[in-house]
Amino acid sequence: MFAAYAAQLSAEDPLSALELGERPDPERREGWVTVRLRAAALNHHDLWSLRGVGLREEQLPMVLGCDGAGVDEDGNEVIVHAVIGSDDFRGDETMDPKRSLLSERHDGTLADLVSVPRRNLVAKPAELSWAEAACLPTAWLTAYRMLYTRGDLKAGESVLIQGAGGGVATAAITLARAGGLKVVVTSRDEAKRQKALELGAHEAYESGERLPARVDAVIETVGKATWSHSIRSLKPGGRIITSGTTSGPDLDDAELTRIFFTQLSVIGSTMGTSRELAQLVALLDASGARPLIDRAIAFEDARDGFAAMLEGDVFGKIVFTR
Ligand SMILES: NC(=O)c1ccc[n+]([C@@H]2O[C@H](COP(=O)([O-])OP(=O)(O)OC[C@H]3O[C@@H](n4cnc5c(N)ncnc54)[C@H](OP(=O)(O)O)[C@@H]3O)[C@@H](O)[C@H]2O)c1
Repeated sequence: MFAAYAAQLSAEDPLSALELGERPDPERREGWVTVRLRAAALNHHDLWSLRGVGLREEQLPMVLGCDGAGVDEDGNEVIVHAVIGSDDFRGDETMDPKRSLLSERHDGTLADLVSVPRRNLVAKPAELSWAEAACLPTAWLTAYRMLYTRGDLKAGESVLIQGAGGGVATAAITLARAGGLKVVVTSRDEAKRQKALELGAHEAYESGERLPARVDAVIETVGKATWSHSIRSLKPGGRIITSGTTSGPDLDDAELTRIFFTQLSVIGSTMGTSRELAQLVALLDASGARPLIDRAIAFEDARDGFAAMLEGDVFGKIVFTR
């Protein structure tokens, strides 16, 4: 099968570690199903993998990709849930200490075929295009869990979404509007702020700019560059939900004094369950909200998509189609 895979690891030059070419088809495994992919989407995670974060030399070559949608062995149109739990774990699979994400221990979705446990398949409604469906399992599911499970946000509450151009951030804007929230965003880039407003944000500010009114919750995936601003933007009793550190995890100031004095909650969140993926699909189906696709690229040209993400020249999801 044709695949995009990590052939080596390079912290400084991740694109040099990317290879596009033939890999063996997945082997048959009890309880697992092979899906022929129709579309796959790119995540920052794929760049982290090429840099050697979460992937070791001895695991190479590893097919990249967490997001995908396609047709299973019985002809069903399915979305692939990327969290691979251990066989004997029951309950919320994101809490399974032995879980992995597709492309961390098992070959991922940037390929003609992917093999996953049968329980990782979620039905794709006909109303969602292949490209739209392929956007959901990582960035969109992460945004959904941050907002509505871990953040427990309710209609009428206000939320600040940092780094408006990102995959998780654009998903959060659309999902927050679909759930009746007041949406405030920041971005370093004026064009991205404008696009965020067009996407549904009520207000958009430059990164680090003081907000006119404090918010109930912050969706934080940027880390070091925005953490302090996130904490300072919360109302007393507010919550910050964090799932990523694109600009780095080491904080200049964790704002601990403000956290205890204004009684803030710091909430970690990671991916989501297959049940939440099904709920997310139902929310899109019912609300008409759809993933924003920055660009759809032929799978053979996947390197261009990786390069665009590395440049930060992205608003929404990069999708590879067939
Ligand atoms: N825990 C999980 O389950 C999970 C799941 C998905 C993603 N993540 C993590 O979440 C993060 C975002 O993922 P993604 O796929 O959405 O990535 P992405 O599409 O590359 O978005 C990153 C965004 O961060 C902002 N940013 C980057 N550097 C910045 C800086 N120095 N100052 C201010 N803003 C900066 C940018 O926003 P502007 O250009 O608009 O300023 C950019 O659009 C990644 O670190 C990823 O690993 C975690």
